[in-house]
Amino acid sequence: MAGRFKAPRGTYDVLPGAMERHEFVYRTAGRILEQAGFGLIETPIFEETGLFERGVGDSTDIVRKEMFTFEDKGERSLTLRPEGTAPICRAYIEHGMSKLPQPVKLGYSGPFFRHERPQAGRYREFHQLGAEVIGTDSPLADAEVVILLDSLVRELGIPGVTLKINSLGSGEAREKFTGELTGYLKRHEADLSSDVRERIDSNPLRAFDSDDDGTREVMEGAPSLLDSISREDREHFERVRELLTASGVEHEVDPTLVRGLDYYSRTVFSMVCDRLGAQSEIGGGGRYDDLVGLLGGPDTPAVGWAAGVERLLLALDSGDEVGTRPVDLFLAVASDGDWEKAFALIDRYRNQGLSV
Ligand code: HAM
Repeated sequence: MAGRFKAPRGTYDVLPGAMERHEFVYRTAGRILEQAGFGLIETPIFEETGLFERGVGDSTDIVRKEMFTFEDKGERSLTLRPEGTAPICRAYIEHGMSKLPQPVKLGYSGPFFRHERPQAGRYREFHQLGAEVIGTDSPLADAEVVILLDSLVRELGIPGVTLKINSLGSGEAREKFTGELTGYLKRHEADLSSDVRERIDSNPLRAFDSDDDGTREVMEGAPSLLDSISREDREHFERVRELLTASGVEHEVDPTLVRGLDYYSRTVFSMVCDRLGAQSEIGGGGRYDDLVGLLGGPDTPAVGWAAGVERLLLALDSGDEVGTRPVDLFLAVASDGDWEKAFALIDRYRNQGLSV
């Protein structure tokens, strides 16, 4: 029996009307990043699974449940990339970029894959635009990347945007806080969601991110991360904020902001849009000072972000027009014998830059 095929659940076709809007987003981002001295980079669609297990973190949702992982014919475990930061750090190490003048500024775009429950703004194949600044711990770099994300959103004309920012601290103070939080969560274990309970030891910070009512209530009384960070980390955070304010980038400090990937330390940020429903984050990122070292490279601080192209488009949405584009010139042929002449004219006008 003949069958009809549909795109797999959580994926979609980009039709001609929507394609132009996608390209507008890529063009705008490409220009903003190139003007800021970013070099464009592409990494493979799939990587060794271990890169994400180590880089993104074993206890994250991404690694625990969302990766498209398969074995190739050589019995190696490969994974369709769920995010771009770990692959870019892998490329930074593999190509000896630590020997270049630092920081190295890299911009990228492309498809990413997560086996999530599909809904508006959440797909299994989606597209990200990203920017990474590798090789500096200066707060200037944190501020610059946030300013660029803000410029992108403003230039695209996305309304209703809020930027939230926090510092996760680092080093001993962070470890001490994690210990305290674990103790607190254990005392309230009965009221936590099973997801949070399972990760009390491996990833207690995720409790701040939970949308479970019981967990949220418990977290209202939880110790504050921002109150526990070291003096250096606090000064770093304050400097980032001063620079943002001086550049006119409005932001809110959200001491409960943690992100879904394990590699973050110090600054984290998230941009949300009130036009979107549950999946309101259009972009986010932060510092990942330990990731390059964790993946076998020299200790190298870094900061960056990624934005979801589909979410940027949803936030802009004016409805996709399906079909062919309007043209500059429409040629009508009166009789069949004129087609040769018509094709010659079409060719001439197209070569002159008109759409025909
Ligand atoms: P992320 O927050 O996991 O961060 O993803 C970045 C953005 O990708 C999100 O803000 C969202 O707009 C979009 N996104 C994520 N998952 C989906 C999905 N299933 N469907 C549609 N859009 C989605 C990262 O990936 C980090 N690598 C960001 C980063 C770069 N941090 C430092 N450098």
